[in-house]
Amino acid sequence: MASLDRRAVVVAAVAACVIAALVPSFAQTNSSTAPEQPLPYSHKLHVALGLRCQQCHPNPDPGESMTFPATSFCMTCHMAVAKEKPAIQKLSAVAVAKKAVPWVRINAVPAGIYWSHRSHLLAGAKCTVCHGEVGQMDVVAKTVDVTTMKGCIACHKQFRASTGCEFCHEGK
Ligand code: HEC
Ligand code: HEC
Ligand code: HEC
Ligand code: HEC
Ligand code: HEC
Repeated sequence: MASLDRRAVVVAAVAACVIAALVPSFAQTNSSTAPEQPLPYSHKLHVALGLRCQQCHPNPDPGESMTFPATSFCMTCHMAVAKEKPAIQKLSAVAVAKKAVPWVRINAVPAGIYWSHRSHLLAGAKCTVCHGEVGQMDVVAKTVDVTTMKGCIACHKQFRASTGCEFCHEGK
């Protein structure tokens, strides 16, 4: 029953969907916080090389997460590129140890909340709507509030998606 209701909303929202054109104004954060990362990785530099978001952040089944790139992927270039730089030496040490770089999370929804990237991407929402102009950032900062209930609901209201408690809270 609940899932049928949800389906109906999904279809209606997709039909009316203009998310792609949405300027991310629904919930701007006023303080942009950029935590210090273990390596000085720059989106601006790497995106300018022509790398696409989903090359590093695919959306594997079942679709909840975008995931982080494997260190081995970084090494496809950095075996040769800038290998004398201290940051790249740190990166290759992590790769040799077959570990993941301990990136500091910027966006995180607490446990018990139903969240999926997949459904939002299928609805036409672009990365920038929820994450800002990441491709222009040297250090990723949170510029849009997409992880609090207030942020989720502001957008759901704007696009007439459900704001029923059981829609987002598990235990439905
Ligand atoms: C070459 C690989 C690479 C590409 C291309 C890339 N990213 Fe990333 N992304 C990373 C890495 C590594 C991190 C973790 C370090 C950081 O936060 O800067 C990250 C972090 C992020 C985060 C923060 C995740 C969190 O903790 O909440 C977002 C959002 C993001 N990327 C979005 C994008 C978008 C949007 C694009 C395309 C414009 C993109 N990325 C392109 C590698 C990449
Ligand atoms: C397509 C090739 C490519 C891939 C893939 C790639 N990089 Fe880079 N990266 C570069 C280039 C080119 C530079 C600029 C090198 C320079 O300035 O000499 C660079 C620079 C860097 C630097 C700055 C080095 C310094 O101190 O100047 C860091 C750190 C870095 N990359 C980390 C990463 C990480 C982490 C990943 C994987 C998430 C990654 N790179 C994936 C090509 C790549
Ligand atoms: C409707 C809003 C929305 C859209 C659109 C969106 N994201 Fe996210 N993103 C989030 C939320 C919320 C989180 C925190 C998720 C969590 O804690 O599980 C997040 C987390 C992430 C993370 C951290 C890893 C993860 O999956 O938790 C990355 C990387 C990321 N997003 C990249 C992207 C990229 C790339 C795109 C575009 C292809 C994108 N996002 C589109 C809201 C969004
Ligand atoms: C950019 C606007 C936007 C933001 C931000 C957003 N949503 Fe949504 N969400 C939508 C729209 C539109 C739909 C209906 C279309 C669809 O489901 O395909 C939807 C559908 C959903 C669904 C039903 C589809 C599914 O995945 O089962 C859930 C659950 C959901 N959102 C939870 C959240 C949560 C939790 C957050 C905050 C962490 C959030 N949303 C943030 C626009 C947004
Ligand atoms: C669109 C998604 C969404 C809907 C709809 C929603 N919530 Fe939430 N809720 C969240 C998210 C995400 C969090 C965790 C982040 C936060 O605390 O802001 C949360 C957190 C909470 C919390 C914990 C706050 C705290 O301080 O611990 C309560 C209580 C809550 N919601 C009650 C409700 C009630 C009652 C409804 C229905 C009127 C509702 N929620 C509808 C997404 C949603």
